[in-house]
Amino acid sequence: MYSQEQEKYYFDQAKQFLANDVPEDEASYELLKKVIKYADWKYYVQSNPLLADVEYDILFKQLHRFEQTHPQCIKNDSPTQRVAMGLSERFPSVAHLVPMLSLENTYNEQDILDWDKKCRESIQVNAITYCIEPKYDGASISLVYQNNILDRGITRGDGVKGEEITNNVKQIRSIPLSASFIEKGIEQIEIRGEVVIHKAIFDAYNQQRAEEGLAPLANPRNAASGTLRMLDAQEVAKRKLTAIAYHVSNITASPAAALPRTHYDMVRFLAQEGFPTPIQEMRVCTTIQEVIATCNKFEQERDQLPFEIDGMVIKVNDLWQQEQLGMTSHHPRWAVAFKFKARQATSKLLKVEFQVGRTGSITPVAKIEPVPIGGVVVSSVSLFNEEVVAEKDLMIGDYVLLERAGDVIPYIVKSIPELRSGEETPILFPKQCPVCKSDLEKPLEEAVWRCVNVACEAQVVERIIHFASKDAMDIRNLGVSNIQKLFDLGILKSIPAIYDLDWSRISSLEGFGAKSVSNLQQAIEQSKTQELNRLLFGLGIRYVGETTAKILANAIDTIQDLYTWTEEQLCSLEDIGPKVAASVAHFFQHPENRTLIEQLIEKGVSVDNKRKSTALIEGVFSGKSFLFTGTLTAFKRSYAEQMVEEKGGTIANSVNSKLDFLVVGTDAGSKLEKAKKLNTITILNEQEFIEMLH
Ligand code: IVH
Repeated sequence: MYSQEQEKYYFDQAKQFLANDVPEDEASYELLKKVIKYADWKYYVQSNPLLADVEYDILFKQLHRFEQTHPQCIKNDSPTQRVAMGLSERFPSVAHLVPMLSLENTYNEQDILDWDKKCRESIQVNAITYCIEPKYDGASISLVYQNNILDRGITRGDGVKGEEITNNVKQIRSIPLSASFIEKGIEQIEIRGEVVIHKAIFDAYNQQRAEEGLAPLANPRNAASGTLRMLDAQEVAKRKLTAIAYHVSNITASPAAALPRTHYDMVRFLAQEGFPTPIQEMRVCTTIQEVIATCNKFEQERDQLPFEIDGMVIKVNDLWQQEQLGMTSHHPRWAVAFKFKARQATSKLLKVEFQVGRTGSITPVAKIEPVPIGGVVVSSVSLFNEEVVAEKDLMIGDYVLLERAGDVIPYIVKSIPELRSGEETPILFPKQCPVCKSDLEKPLEEAVWRCVNVACEAQVVERIIHFASKDAMDIRNLGVSNIQKLFDLGILKSIPAIYDLDWSRISSLEGFGAKSVSNLQQAIEQSKTQELNRLLFGLGIRYVGETTAKILANAIDTIQDLYTWTEEQLCSLEDIGPKVAASVAHFFQHPENRTLIEQLIEKGVSVDNKRKSTALIEGVFSGKSFLFTGTLTAFKRSYAEQMVEEKGGTIANSVNSKLDFLVVGTDAGSKLEKAKKLNTITILNEQEFIEMLH
């Protein structure tokens, strides 16, 4: 896509723009657009960022400022046009230039051999060169570029007509808003691809939903297709979708245009134009045996790919041969899908158990007749909450369809009511906690029932498990079964008790040899110096996931600071909303929780922000403290704070006489007033702050 010289050129230009201000004329505006496009490509297609986030944001802001004063220059290819605005009422239905066909499936070697034979006979050749690539499990999409500019993005719909979702498609940052097609004689081009979601992003998103008491999205495919059709484009932007372009379905070009002649070259052409493609995963095979072997190899390694794939697509590589083969009304004859072995299975729902989580949430868990799915035997599946049970129409005794998508935990897709005998019984939700028998409550805005007895033994055990877990205090060897065992024996009854274990008793237990006892002792000892964010996460405060814990830890010097933080103060931290703030404030005001923290301190657990006190860097801001207030428009507050710290400065918590600089965004309130009154603090607007960075 970019030659080495071009890469260097755009990099240098980026630095130039960063050192200067808003573009002065249209030519430098056009250049800045190209620089941002290049930075987007590095970040989203190559996954190799060129600029620091804060630098990117500054460039973007410069572009935006120029456009504000030169609105006549704005075209659809400006990166500012990706910015989500307003809600869509509904999506208009539009016709595809060429129908969006589906692929015929093959499931085994013989199917592939038969298909190859049919192809060879049809065009009367002895051998065909094939190109194979992953079959992505997402939502298919069609992109039309008119005179270099992305004109429309359309869902598959019924194959003939789809929904126009251009606005949402523009939120997918790996899809170029423009390309240089005209230069290659191409006036209009229709590109097909798949919108997918990174498995890691999908998992993180689901974890966040779980923290909020919402049922996880079933699989990456549903997440991608559901997101694409959301009416709020801003929400779409948040979900971080990506796309993969794998086919050109229509081209209007001048007769002199030198177009690629094979599928592989066509995809390479798209990659050169900056599109995300499967080019790295594509294999050109000259024999059908090689095709089969490669498909099998990919099936073995499917979990290593960052996106969910459900098979391979085998395509005749030569585009002229493709044309000769043509298509039926449903699918092309020049391609087939080789479907991987299904990761679905049916089983019988035997009973439902109700588990109590660490926050008291009651989760129904289906026990099913054990069944292998994609190499794992599944006997237990979460049903999340009452609504999910109702929605899937589940009854005890039902046959159910299960699916395991990639590395994601298995879930029940649906019941199979056709197979009911009449002996099935409804799933009844308990009114009392299955462990401590206290009455359950269901807050109005929530989907889950809760046991609100904090002393409920089930909750206590879950809290200890969470505290010791890998992402929290990471106490190796203190896993679920050991915790349960020690709890049942009365040896480990609370979190602080971890640091006060009766080792002579433990050493006498079965399964606790000298070596494992010493490993456990060591792991517990090490956990005392864990970072503050891990401790905060480990405390199991509602709505405080790993990310929130990091934000909180960064803002304080020691955990006791939070005893006095008000909801308002917490809300002033970036990305902390009222719900989280209320929960955190409530947690630290609760005497029992303070006692817990004091006990941990007594046992020697570190509660200080170690990074804050030691990681000071020498720089131009050394010895200076900064505080940001109001909404920053040029960049996120966290980036600005990072820049201050990188230059040796510190971030203050509040306006007081020790503060050096207050950087004021829009809607600044009481902090600005207070700083003005003190009269010792330098007050900066964003622009002045940016200038200080240079
Ligand atoms: S080519 C004219 N290539 O699978 C045929 N499709 O069941 C164009 N899919 O609707 C499709 N990965 O949504 C092609 N590498 C790939 C694909 C792929 C996924 C989807 C596509 C299609 C469905 C067919």
